[in-house]
Amino acid sequence: MMTRRTLLELAALSAASPAAQAAEPPFVLPKLPYAYDALEPYIDAQTMQIHHDKHHQAYVDNLNKAISGDAALSRLSVEELLQRLDALPAAVRTAVRNQGGGHANHSLFWQTLCTSSKSGKPAGRLTAALDRSFGGQDKFEEKLQASALGVFGSGWAWLSVDSGKNLVLDSAPNQDSPLLSGKRPLLGIDVWEHAYYLKYQNRRADYLKAIVKVINWDFVTARYEDLAK
Ligand SMILES: [Fe+2]
Repeated sequence: MMTRRTLLELAALSAASPAAQAAEPPFVLPKLPYAYDALEPYIDAQTMQIHHDKHHQAYVDNLNKAISGDAALSRLSVEELLQRLDALPAAVRTAVRNQGGGHANHSLFWQTLCTSSKSGKPAGRLTAALDRSFGGQDKFEEKLQASALGVFGSGWAWLSVDSGKNLVLDSAPNQDSPLLSGKRPLLGIDVWEHAYYLKYQNRRADYLKAIVKVINWDFVTARYEDLAK
């Protein structure tokens, strides 16, 4: 006959079991770290609300749908999933690449932006690295905009840190994360039309001129210090 103690132990085991953990979706939409209108007039409040609450939420929901039945995968962070994409079961690979990429990319994107009065400047080692790699902040921003403008269809322009701790500027289609190619993303510019169409329609170049006014350089500088150490 089961003692009360055995029952309690079973209950504790059950609470810690993967099946119990799977009841909670493994991924959740992070809160926007500022108000929807914080990036006005450069990025409008309605775009921010739809982009965060609808588009990013859909990536989170679809990623949960794809992997929440797999206890082992559910225990990994989205970054870990993307970094080991080739080792994942074939059945979830496309969903992790697209939906997991969407979740990771947008989670970083919100943090790299801020109200224009707080945008600031690159500092510390990042200033020197931008000088070395691109000829300074202004030249870097020109190259970032050119890279983003050159994306055919939907995708991102990325500033990343490679395995040798070098800065790399490139672009990627769809929601492909720099994590897929062994890099660590530092700053990404979303050029899916959902990021700008309400305010800028087909004028992607105008959106790009605007978004560089709301880059959170304090955040990007701190992230660089962390990734390049
Ligand atoms: Fe987006």
